[in-house]
Amino acid sequence: MSARILDGKALAAEIRTALRAKVAALVRHGVNPGLAVILAGDDPASKVYVRNKTRACEEVGVRSQQIDYPAAVTQEELIARIRKLNADPAVHGILVQLPLPKQIDSAAVLAAVAPEKDVDGFHESNLGALLAGKPRVVPCTPAGVMRLLEHAGVTLAGKHAVVVGRSNIVGKPVALLLLQKDATVTICHSKTKDLAETCRQADVLIAAVGRAKLVTAAMVKPGACVIDVGVNRLPDGKLAGDVDFDAVKEVAGAITPVPGGVGPMTIAMLLENCVKSAA
Ligand code: GUN
Repeated sequence: MSARILDGKALAAEIRTALRAKVAALVRHGVNPGLAVILAGDDPASKVYVRNKTRACEEVGVRSQQIDYPAAVTQEELIARIRKLNADPAVHGILVQLPLPKQIDSAAVLAAVAPEKDVDGFHESNLGALLAGKPRVVPCTPAGVMRLLEHAGVTLAGKHAVVVGRSNIVGKPVALLLLQKDATVTICHSKTKDLAETCRQADVLIAAVGRAKLVTAAMVKPGACVIDVGVNRLPDGKLAGDVDFDAVKEVAGAITPVPGGVGPMTIAMLLENCVKSAA
């Protein structure tokens, strides 16, 4: 039997509708949420992501400004601009699109964002709060994954959740959020000995590595819930997730598609973080 498809696109549209009303109420009280997005360099995927984010802002009434820098930008220039945005009362959220050009120390740049304007939740103090079990701003993709699971009625207490990928942006924070919901959590990465065997034990499997179709049907327990965070461009130009969707949907109980799964949820969570930051 084919898996239930978890439609992130539809859920994200519902969330945006609710946010539009919230933003309108804030505007009536004299506050118009504003997001500043910094894009450095010419990464084509980053350009698409940033365009999608600023469009989504427009749709819900959040003011957005995009600040572009050439790939040769210096760390000092970026940090000086972030300091100005930190001090600007019309800016409620600051997002630095990653990856940054290779000469830049991303951690130093992210640390310059005022934690209360850090709508990505990447500042060390916000990640630390999450670790301490007192989340403030939760990173957008992990928050989107959790919202999708909640909306799908997937119970997590006592379940085995396997996260493939250990990035600061997705793998580590989503593992903490799953742990907070009382799942038993395993994090796999490039040095994991038997990835397939570990994945097969998962009731909930989160793939966040950035390798097209890494998760095959043989790595999935029948009936498992499979969440695909990957967005990979295939040689023919098509998009593929980290999961071999066509094969895995015949084994899994529920699965997110790519596109239309986690991606739109990430943007919806960014908007929520931005509106919260303004409220
Ligand atoms: N690059 C890939 N994903 C993200 C994200 O969620 N936020 C930012 N700022 N950059 C990214």
